[in-house]
Amino acid sequence: MARALSDAELSAGARLMSRLDAFATFTDEPGKLTRLFLSDAHRRAAAAFIGWCAEAGVKARIDAAGNVVARYEGKQAGAPALMLGSHIDTVRDAGRYDGNYGALAALAVVEQLADGGERLDHAVEIVAFGDEEGVRYRTTLTGSRALAGTYPKEALDQRDAAGVAMRDALRAFGGDPDKASSIRAENVAAFVEAHIEQGPVLEAENLPLGVVTAINGATRLEVGVEGMAGHAGATPMTLRRDALAAAADMALAIEKRARGEPDLVGTVGRLEVWPGAANVIPGVARFSIDVRAPSDSQRAAALAEMRASLDAIAKARGVSVTVAVTHEANAFVCDSRIVAGFKRTVEGLGFPPRLLPSGAGHDAMAMGQLCPAGMLFVRCKGGISHNPLESITREDCAFGLAALTRFVREFRLD
Ligand code: GLV
Ligand code: MN
Ligand code: MN
Repeated sequence: MARALSDAELSAGARLMSRLDAFATFTDEPGKLTRLFLSDAHRRAAAAFIGWCAEAGVKARIDAAGNVVARYEGKQAGAPALMLGSHIDTVRDAGRYDGNYGALAALAVVEQLADGGERLDHAVEIVAFGDEEGVRYRTTLTGSRALAGTYPKEALDQRDAAGVAMRDALRAFGGDPDKASSIRAENVAAFVEAHIEQGPVLEAENLPLGVVTAINGATRLEVGVEGMAGHAGATPMTLRRDALAAAADMALAIEKRARGEPDLVGTVGRLEVWPGAANVIPGVARFSIDVRAPSDSQRAAALAEMRASLDAIAKARGVSVTVAVTHEANAFVCDSRIVAGFKRTVEGLGFPPRLLPSGAGHDAMAMGQLCPAGMLFVRCKGGISHNPLESITREDCAFGLAALTRFVREFRLD
């Protein structure tokens, strides 16, 4: 039986749930939640986050890479920090909990400490990362990679669909592209991220919380297919080099290969076609491929076969194909002491500590290059995510925050 939460934990949970609702109003597309990296909605969300920190008496700022960062000192100024956070960018037409839950839960932990003037042996730093989804630009995790000291400098030259370079968007947002690659965080003892599960395991097992053991590795590719545009009425089927038909064949080959093995997943999530008219045979197609697996060697083997099948399809259809890697993150194993700590706090709340891997990518995998890192999962309805139907209960929201807060209070420096 789950133990009851204290009144303070219940009210902190309720405040977090209302904040998540209020935060969802910061959107670039009225009527839905779309908050792309460095957009106007991102700027307004960051300003609200900074304002809420100020109300708690904690000074927050935007760092050079576009993250919102703040520090709550421990008993001794300058003590090593336990860093908490997640991302506040979203996919298009997103749910309101992916990323935002962990960023606002981090703020809620510090608010509770500050409310009672409570100081710990360690400092607590909170971060609302700017760029986890990789929707506006082709890279991802640039915020967490900046703090981890692995910033992909070349990303600054990328342009979004409207031609705006990341370098310029970052400067306009209040970041500093010239310093983004040199802001590696110092004196961080560990990083922990609370996040909705984005999968169905916890709901199926009737559990509100899960302790993450590992995060799947991922590769994203950008594929260009070039055929020959031509007249849709006058060109016989046998004489065409249709770039879209080739891309469709390729997408099915990716799906088939990914289906062939347990735990491997492959997705073609974006496809663009030129010139894009009903009466013109497509001359050019571009699409993304996202491949993930718990084992790096499994992912590498699948990618090699996928690339060979793209070449074979291109050859058979008389089109050319180019493939560029836009993101690569190896599988990440969560720190065993953090896993043990979350197991204790989940048990302390009266629940069996369900250990599970994450199929989704997270800022924790980048932060794991800097310091020990780990994650706590909160059950979400139907396992649905990257969808406006994303949903959590008020009760689970409070359990997740209580587990994170207890973890922070019980955390010990070596
Ligand atoms: C982030 O949501 C990812 O796993 O792509
Ligand atoms: Mn996320
Ligand atoms: Mn996401």
